[in-house]
Amino acid sequence: MHKHTVANTQLTDRLGRIHTSLRISVTDRCNIRCFYCMPEKDVEFCPRDELLTFEEICRFVRAMLQVGVNKFRITGGEPLVRADLPDLIKQLHQMPGVADLAVTTNGILLPDQAAALRAAGLRRLNISLDTLREETFRKITRREGLDRVLDGIAIAQTCDFEKIRLNAIAIRGLSEHDVVPLGRFAREQNLELRFIEFMPLDADTAWQSENVLTGATLRQMLEAEFGPLEPVSRTDPAQPAIDYRFTDGGGRIGFINPVSSPFCSTCNRLRITAEGQVRNCLFSTAEWDARAMLRQGASDKELIHLVRECVAAKAPAHGIGTGEFVRPQRAMYQIGG
Ligand code: 5AD
Ligand code: SF4
Repeated sequence: MHKHTVANTQLTDRLGRIHTSLRISVTDRCNIRCFYCMPEKDVEFCPRDELLTFEEICRFVRAMLQVGVNKFRITGGEPLVRADLPDLIKQLHQMPGVADLAVTTNGILLPDQAAALRAAGLRRLNISLDTLREETFRKITRREGLDRVLDGIAIAQTCDFEKIRLNAIAIRGLSEHDVVPLGRFAREQNLELRFIEFMPLDADTAWQSENVLTGATLRQMLEAEFGPLEPVSRTDPAQPAIDYRFTDGGGRIGFINPVSSPFCSTCNRLRITAEGQVRNCLFSTAEWDARAMLRQGASDKELIHLVRECVAAKAPAHGIGTGEFVRPQRAMYQIGG
């Protein structure tokens, strides 16, 4: 009976994709300027009164819990620059029905905040790390701060998180030489590492397919150094990463290949931007205004209806590499990774 009710209310789109995962951006601000995401200067940030408050975010999450969304990821910009983030984590963590809660961070503020986030109930952390060399870090982020990121990783490792994962983007002509050292670092530190292909979401609109180091290329580079990688069977079919283990027992490594092998057909994700706009895809060109509804005193039913319309309009695939591909107006930092 209960199952039946859930089946009727889940967020299912035209292709039968059931949406159970929500990525919540809490700010478009960031303390660095990665070229694959933000412009280097003169960034126009969203005025603070246009950001959803924690109360509004929680209200939205409670509505989504009613229709089967139970996995949540906090993103940015850089989520740790949002004031009092641990307070939000605590509220979300305590909500009945939240099955999974994670944060994606660039790590810069982790030395200050890792312990508070863990204390607020956070168990999973993804930290972006593209290089172990300060010079390359500067080229990518156009800021300094690799030391702080590495400190942040080290401190987070002492905070008893269930899982800390490293995310890396590797760019041809810039960070090929970082791939093997990152693999070695992850093995030594006993951290899972995932490479994500560079997607056309950079504010500079400089993306070119030639600069994408594909998951297949990266795998070859890593196998040449560390020996064969063995596929790990997927436990969650909606999981975009293809994970491998080193056959010598030295940990796991995964590849998220949105460009070379799109996983749109199993996508279960929705996003809400820091300004409260609901999106059915990273590459969506339309948004549904949840903030207006929240601020007009809409009911949960109305909020859910809005999200259903968003889900119903979801495109079958992003179409990168096809003639039909249209870049979204927003860049990565304005959507949330
Ligand atoms: N392509 C792929 N991943 C990106 N990220 C940011 N911009 C891009 C892009 N253009 C990733 C960051 C981080 C997460 C927030 O999103 O590396 O891991
Ligand atoms: Fe900041 Fe993340 Fe964008 Fe880099 S990718 S500029 S860390 S929001």
